[in-house]
Amino acid sequence: MSDRTRGRPLLVRDLAQLATPSGTEAPLRGAALGSVDVIEGAYILCENGRVAAAGPMSELGTLDDEVEELDGRGLSAVPGFVDCHTHACFAGDRVDEFELRATGASYEELHAAGGGILATVRATRAAGEGGLAEALSRHRRWMRRAGTTTFECKSGYGLDRETELASLRAIREAGGIPTWLGAHAVPPEFADADAYLDFALSEVLPEAAELAVAADVFLEEGAFDVDQARRYLEACRAAALALRVHGDQFTEQGAIPLAIELGARSVDHLEATGDDGVRALAASDVVGVLLPASALFLDRPMPPARALADSGAAIALASDFNPGSSFCESLAIVSSLAVTQLHLTPTEALSACTVNAAHVLGKAGEIGRIAPGYVADLVLLDAADWRYLSYHLGADLIATVIEAGNVTWSRDVE
Ligand code: NIG
Ligand code: FE
Repeated sequence: MSDRTRGRPLLVRDLAQLATPSGTEAPLRGAALGSVDVIEGAYILCENGRVAAAGPMSELGTLDDEVEELDGRGLSAVPGFVDCHTHACFAGDRVDEFELRATGASYEELHAAGGGILATVRATRAAGEGGLAEALSRHRRWMRRAGTTTFECKSGYGLDRETELASLRAIREAGGIPTWLGAHAVPPEFADADAYLDFALSEVLPEAAELAVAADVFLEEGAFDVDQARRYLEACRAAALALRVHGDQFTEQGAIPLAIELGARSVDHLEATGDDGVRALAASDVVGVLLPASALFLDRPMPPARALADSGAAIALASDFNPGSSFCESLAIVSSLAVTQLHLTPTEALSACTVNAAHVLGKAGEIGRIAPGYVADLVLLDAADWRYLSYHLGADLIATVIEAGNVTWSRDVE
């Protein structure tokens, strides 16, 4: 279907609404986070993969016959969603553990008993490079039809040299932005976290750094402590990787101060973050990536999103899509949770999963807005008011997905 418009300009016309984060700044914070431009009765012209022009229909000039037209009546357009935190590169599932959790087993207990992340490590190692690529492309299809046009994806379910590197290659092949999560858990063949890090930093990092753009660590009780996280991240920074941190998911272990000290792009989760953490993040350039689908899925407290936004911290939203703690790839559902559970406004939620998520990935100059010069990544919502994105909880809302000016998914055609 993507061939339908390839090479030809695409005009999306007669849209009920177009909504895009205002201005050109990134990240948006404070009052600017909630500043979204809305045009009623709009068009978007895509040429050579970019937005050539966008505005009210009344300002649309004459176009030549070569232009492919897409009828936007009754639909609203928002920027393609940017999912800046996923673990989509995994094989198998954890539906059995999901059922066990319903009868009282906790996520931490399953992890401590060798299940959890390590269960997915076993399945991912067993899948082989071909099986892993197949699983990822299936997950990528789910994300696309949920409106995600750019996705970051972490390794971290291999934890051996071969499977970590195969994961990073598969992520690149699938068009994802690869993060080396070499410090996700300690695999069973190592006595402890330090011994595992000795191996990962000497045997995996040199090649991982050629394939990935960032590195991430799970800083938590039962995973890696703050000194181990510092050691891992410093080595990754020296290898020119950008830094991310899984922090404050269950307990505060110094993730925010460490992320600030090392100039990380983001610290992600923050369900356990207290007032000091909120203040520190607000005074820094580190983005707080909030993952409400994960908190919901594990029945954990929600992160202090309102306090972060009000104190001027830069925040982004992401799915955390993975088989254990967030089996949810939909940023529309995440936007709904952002409003109903995190008490963000629909406009704040939109900026957080478009421009601010793009900033976390170092791509805010290219994606995350509908404006001339930006990549023509668009989502057309089956709603005349774009705020249905967060309002219509769990709905079949995504009508059409456009990537670089090509229709890559459409509900009407599939
Ligand atoms: O972000 N917390 C660590 N990692 C993932 C979960 C991975 C898993 O359970 O498989 C997360 O929630
Ligand atoms: Fe995660």
